[in-house]
Amino acid sequence: MCGIVAYIGKKEAYPIIIKGLQRLEYRGYDSAGVALLNGELSVFKKAGKVQDLANYVKDKNVSGSLGMGHTRWATHGEPNDTNAHPHFSESENFAIIHNGIIENYESLKQALIKLGHKFRSDTDTEVLIQLIEEIYQKGGVSFDEAVRLALNEVVGAYAIVVLSKDHPNAMVAARKGSPIVVGIGEDEYFVASDATPIVEYTKNVAYLNDGEIAIINNNEFKVKTIGNVVKIPLIEELEINLEQLEKGGYEHFMLKEIYEQPRSIWDSMRGRLDASAGRLRLGGINEYLAKLVKTDRILIVACGTSWHAGLVAEYLIEDLARIPVEVEYASEFRYRNPIISEKDIVIAISQSGETADTLAAIELAKSKGATILGVCNVVGSSIPRMTHAGSYTHAGPEIGVASTKAFTAQVTVLTLMALQIAHKKGTIKDSRFRLLLNELESIPEKVKKALECNDKAKELAAKFKDARNFLYLGRGCGFPVALEGALKLKEISYIHAEGYPAAEMKHGPIALIDEEMPVVVIATQSASYEKVVSNIQEVKARKGKIIAIVTEGDTQVKNIADYTIEIPAVDEVLEPLVSVIPLQLLSYHIAVMRGCNVDQPRNLAKSVTVE
Ligand code: G6P
Repeated sequence: MCGIVAYIGKKEAYPIIIKGLQRLEYRGYDSAGVALLNGELSVFKKAGKVQDLANYVKDKNVSGSLGMGHTRWATHGEPNDTNAHPHFSESENFAIIHNGIIENYESLKQALIKLGHKFRSDTDTEVLIQLIEEIYQKGGVSFDEAVRLALNEVVGAYAIVVLSKDHPNAMVAARKGSPIVVGIGEDEYFVASDATPIVEYTKNVAYLNDGEIAIINNNEFKVKTIGNVVKIPLIEELEINLEQLEKGGYEHFMLKEIYEQPRSIWDSMRGRLDASAGRLRLGGINEYLAKLVKTDRILIVACGTSWHAGLVAEYLIEDLARIPVEVEYASEFRYRNPIISEKDIVIAISQSGETADTLAAIELAKSKGATILGVCNVVGSSIPRMTHAGSYTHAGPEIGVASTKAFTAQVTVLTLMALQIAHKKGTIKDSRFRLLLNELESIPEKVKKALECNDKAKELAAKFKDARNFLYLGRGCGFPVALEGALKLKEISYIHAEGYPAAEMKHGPIALIDEEMPVVVIATQSASYEKVVSNIQEVKARKGKIIAIVTEGDTQVKNIADYTIEIPAVDEVLEPLVSVIPLQLLSYHIAVMRGCNVDQPRNLAKSVTVE
């Protein structure tokens, strides 16, 4: 949430910053701004997209080789020009960009007002820059020391970069709860919320840890804690490349990412699965396998789409490994005094690895002694660095705000995990284990086949794009898929949609059904196929319009449903990987036809770093 980028070196900073902001725009996009230091400290900011900012500064002087930029997802204060970042201090000698929330901003603000400070914006961020200025003006401390002392008074989460007019060769960055990565080039440094604005210039990066400050000038980069302990930064090499950050000929990142799934699913199995040899090994969790086999329960914490992947995992782990699983919204788990002990294993699932609620849930479970395993996509992000062990999903950067390939990669890794535990525990017959390994290897091909329904999805999108409500139904593993289908539609097309267990429909949503209501049903061949057929009949009897996702060759549902989309036959436990594909495509096309901004839906952000 909120993207920050900064540059110090010998090149012109502005082009690097504006391009960086475009790459980070998925994090928030209600306003944007830049600050440049070129003798003067100048700030330009605008409500709207990064492109609005770029248009606004066209005729302005944006020269300078030190600068920073911000793209905002509003928390405190509506998204207007004034509340956009960067924020000046009162004297305009300091400027700040910030991602996060300063929780005690009101008490700090009142104290600063008493000291005579005047505020321009409604933001929590302005309080911090005024506090830095207050400390600096009192005298006796350096620029970075003023930042450090101010941060000691702050409660909340932050990733910040601060510039000072009196220090034309320096920038100070800090993090607590929100990510900061420093890119190290030749006589130049980059600071950003993630590596996407940096990868074009250097592959060498250092991730700040919570409570650390980076003090950067043209040829030096030092790190210390806010408690004033000097740290040696660990330089790592980035694994992503530029190509992964481009649309590659697709109209939207979301469509590109939907089509990448045969490859991304394969990438999340690569080196872990060898079906012909009957071998499966998730190196990341190997050390904890014995504990997983013995555990009495597994807790899964996640948010959004990742939570849906967790629900799929609940079915898989319980069915295959016979371990009770509880799946929790991280935001609820962290505040409800949950019962956790050192015997528990918690699996945290997150694409970004930065979701604030998931991080807090991990912290809580860790403090009670539980073992925490992560399933994350972004390498080097906060969650993998906080967990005891885990497995990356290797889906590559996901830029579209609505998650697609990250979901299928998470389900793939969780399936591997369930199978590995089941095999070790002896709860799965060898023949079934081998059959599922073979099935898994065939999934990329089956997903490719499922993608052939694109034209059909488009056709149906044209028919239903004006619907006001949608219902999605599924049973077993099909239920989380129904939830995910409904979420995709809501997120990007702004049509109200609900996912429901097909039989549970009778206890409420059936009252909504009339000839206006499209009902998407996962009606593939599974143990509950006949039951789902009955549920479809119930919808039909009330004149609902049925769009059924069926297994290739199906005849029974085809005779009842208004429309069907076929997917290849696949073992029931692996089916979410394939049945979700038509739902992603249907949402995508509906959103495009409604003229919605598919990659940057209103009010949403991809990386939710505030609670
Ligand atoms: C946001 C994103 C979703 C994502 C959720 C959890 O809401 O828009 O796509 O599923 O956060 O994010 P995470 O990075 O933890 O998977």
